[in-house]
Amino acid sequence: MSNKAVEEGVPYSLHCFINEGEESIKTAPSTRLLTILRDELKLTGTKRSCDIGRCGACMVLIDGKAVNSCLAMAYQCSGKHITSIEGVALQGIDYIQQAFLEEGGFQCGYCTPGMIVSVKALLDDNSEPTDDEIAEALSGNICRCTGYGGIWRAVKQAVERKRQLLAMEQKEELI
Ligand code: FES
Ligand code: FES
Repeated sequence: MSNKAVEEGVPYSLHCFINEGEESIKTAPSTRLLTILRDELKLTGTKRSCDIGRCGACMVLIDGKAVNSCLAMAYQCSGKHITSIEGVALQGIDYIQQAFLEEGGFQCGYCTPGMIVSVKALLDDNSEPTDDEIAEALSGNICRCTGYGGIWRAVKQAVERKRQLLAMEQKEELI
């Protein structure tokens, strides 16, 4: 699509995959993914806060990478696989969410979905992150209450669970 068409907001059909479902959505190409998720698809687990890419409350996965959905426009999502926090829990609470629950990382509900999505992107890509890599992966997620202790413990537990899950998978492959 040309930049002129994008600027003029020419309606078009966004075709993409959201939480494993195929979607065709009529919208303007400049509609933000956050608006599509929350206002059109009612996937309200993704939170709207700063709306300018500063807080991470709206974090989703696009083709496995953590992206602020308030900064992603519809035309940039064409053909992509998008996972919101609802998609993380499609098979039930996953190990990252469980770790957040057990370690006090599940806090106000505003910052938590974005934090979990960022941790998922990290651990899907790197199962043994260093502390610096964890800090870097979460650097775009802000807790306005600065309560990072529980979140840090939750991420460390999730790292350990990921290690155990991978070990179990390897063991099953050998049987
Ligand atoms: S609402 Fe998107 S980064 Fe804050
Ligand atoms: S606990 Fe969510 S912003 Fe602080």
